[in-house]
Amino acid sequence: MAANYNNSAWFYDRLSRLVYGKALIKAQVYLLRYIPTDTNILIVGGGTGWILEEISVIHPAGLTITYVEVAPAMMALSKKRQTAKNQVSFINQAVEEVLLEPVYDVIITPFLFDNFQEQTLEKVFEHLHQSLKLGGMWLNTDFQLTGKWWQRVLLRSMFLFFKILCNIEASSLPDIDSQYKKHHYQSVSKNTFYGDFIVAEVYKKELALTKI
Ligand SMILES: C[S@@+](CC[C@H](N)C(=O)[O-])C[C@H]1O[C@@H](n2cnc3c(N)ncnc32)[C@H](O)[C@@H]1O
Repeated sequence: MAANYNNSAWFYDRLSRLVYGKALIKAQVYLLRYIPTDTNILIVGGGTGWILEEISVIHPAGLTITYVEVAPAMMALSKKRQTAKNQVSFINQAVEEVLLEPVYDVIITPFLFDNFQEQTLEKVFEHLHQSLKLGGMWLNTDFQLTGKWWQRVLLRSMFLFFKILCNIEASSLPDIDSQYKKHHYQSVSKNTFYGDFIVAEVYKKELALTKI
């Protein structure tokens, strides 16, 4: 069964700010400078939708945004956001069930993949990969383990909390970076936050050259 973030929608942002301060926001805002003007964007798992307002500060017009979020309560909050003159289509469904055309210049996945077990990650990744244009940018941010003991403690607590409350399937971090490598993405830019625990990375979709 898919994760159900409905139960946490009303306090999600406050809780994440309590634990991480502004780190989760900074990581996502860092990525937004890589959105070119007048582009077609896919956002998956945007939560309460505050990212729409941050995007609209940088790009008050010219963007066509498809916003896919599975939790109805998160979606309801997202729909109230100011999106300036950008055109936003809201899709309240699990992204793997949405028929996506290969039309996107930019994909944004903010703290989406940590919800998934390896198998789901592979499936969702492949689905999104097919929808990104060649040369398109994929802006991803998520947690990573860099060997510090407190990261494991914090991560384990988060998985337990969200498993009980939202029934997320993951209990450990899937190997996100390997998916980008496997699909021949080029890392364009990268920054870390909260003592390396959070990584925000910009990937570019390249032509996969097969060896002869
Ligand atoms: C950890 S929260 C992150 C929310 C937001 N990006 C933030 O940083 O505040 C993950 C979000 O992804 C959504 N989600 C999880 N699986 C999804 C799926 N398969 N398709 C679309 N949204 C999904 C959840 O409902 C939740 O709102």
